[in-house]
Amino acid sequence: MRGSQILTRPAWLEINLSAIADNISNLKSVLGPQREIIAVIKADGYGHGAVPVAQVAVNSGAGMLAVAFVEEALELTDADIKTEILILSGTPREAAPTIVEYGFHVPLTDVGGAEALSETAQAQNRPAKVHIKVDTGMHRLGVAAEDISEYCERLASLPGLSIQGIFTHFASSPTDPQFTLEQLSRFKEAVGQAEAALGYCIPLKHCANSCAIVRYPESWLDAVRPGALIYGIPRNPGGVYMPTMRPAMTLRTTISHVKPVTAGQAVSYGRTWKAPHDTQVALLPVGYADGYSRALSNNADVLVRGQRVPVVGAICMDCTIIDVGSIGGAQVGEEVVMIGQQGEESITIAEIAERCNTVVQEVACWFTRRLPRMYTHEPGDVRVKELVEAHRSIFSDVST
Ligand SMILES: Cc1ncc(COP(=O)(O)O)c(C=O)c1O
Repeated sequence: MRGSQILTRPAWLEINLSAIADNISNLKSVLGPQREIIAVIKADGYGHGAVPVAQVAVNSGAGMLAVAFVEEALELTDADIKTEILILSGTPREAAPTIVEYGFHVPLTDVGGAEALSETAQAQNRPAKVHIKVDTGMHRLGVAAEDISEYCERLASLPGLSIQGIFTHFASSPTDPQFTLEQLSRFKEAVGQAEAALGYCIPLKHCANSCAIVRYPESWLDAVRPGALIYGIPRNPGGVYMPTMRPAMTLRTTISHVKPVTAGQAVSYGRTWKAPHDTQVALLPVGYADGYSRALSNNADVLVRGQRVPVVGAICMDCTIIDVGSIGGAQVGEEVVMIGQQGEESITIAEIAERCNTVVQEVACWFTRRLPRMYTHEPGDVRVKELVEAHRSIFSDVST
């Protein structure tokens, strides 16, 4: 019998596309019709699934999509997505023919890259769509703000480049307002110098990521580049200038085993948790191989019957153990929410990130292919047939 024909593990990531649609249209209404939303859907749409997120983002008002790599851009065009795509990372010269052929937008970060794109554009008789990347203090990628005039004078002599935009990226928008505003002011100055050197106005000036969108409306300029915000996972939900965004991701499973433990008995690897009194523990079929980090061992709650119960002991590769003594009579098959809302309670990605001393973006990207993605349009709207199909496509090579 094929293992794929039975649903052996009820555990999945539920992605509510309505939440993403609402988040983008909310954002659009706050920004106004003239400002472009460049929806950041790199890293498989922050783990939510790049293609479905792209489709929803475009239908809800995003005018451009941003990914990190050429391969991610090609995944979108293969899915027949026709919207303009900006590749945020520096691209190798060998990728220039593909970039120009597909009309992808790419950052200009040095002279060599600009020359390669110019040559390819001439060879293909098509423009290379480029955005000048200005380094205003992140010191990761881009032309130093103080070199921008000289750089743009060189660009002006390269045929085939269509300069569509100019952008920068903030190093610490959630934590350091002074440095963020300094970066913004450096960027505005660099834009002035670039336009003077080129002799024309650059259409799209953009710098704001989610946190800057929420906190610094002066950074909105012509376009914004939200990632976390569109998935409803900003570190501070709501925020000064934004309505509350709805989280799109729920990690749902069911209890697979229940067993009593007596006071003093330890559970899981390393025996790091000992029952303080007689209780019941339950097993959840989700472990660190699914992306539920081992750093959450003895360091997280999950929701059962709308109540928080603690994760106890070390998280294993394939399972997590919870103490269900407080709810009484826990049953195999009962629904558990590990991230998301159940009843009135919720476990947010921000909470998980804080417990693991990391950022929300990393948590959203943790979850591996072993967890099927289920696409819904309202919370809780999961159809078992789709779940079985999703398992089939993942485990189609597995036979028992
Ligand atoms: C250049 C660039 N712009 C925008 C974003 C989106 O950031 P956030 O998820 O904070 O909105 C990222 C994310 O890493 C990025 O690298």
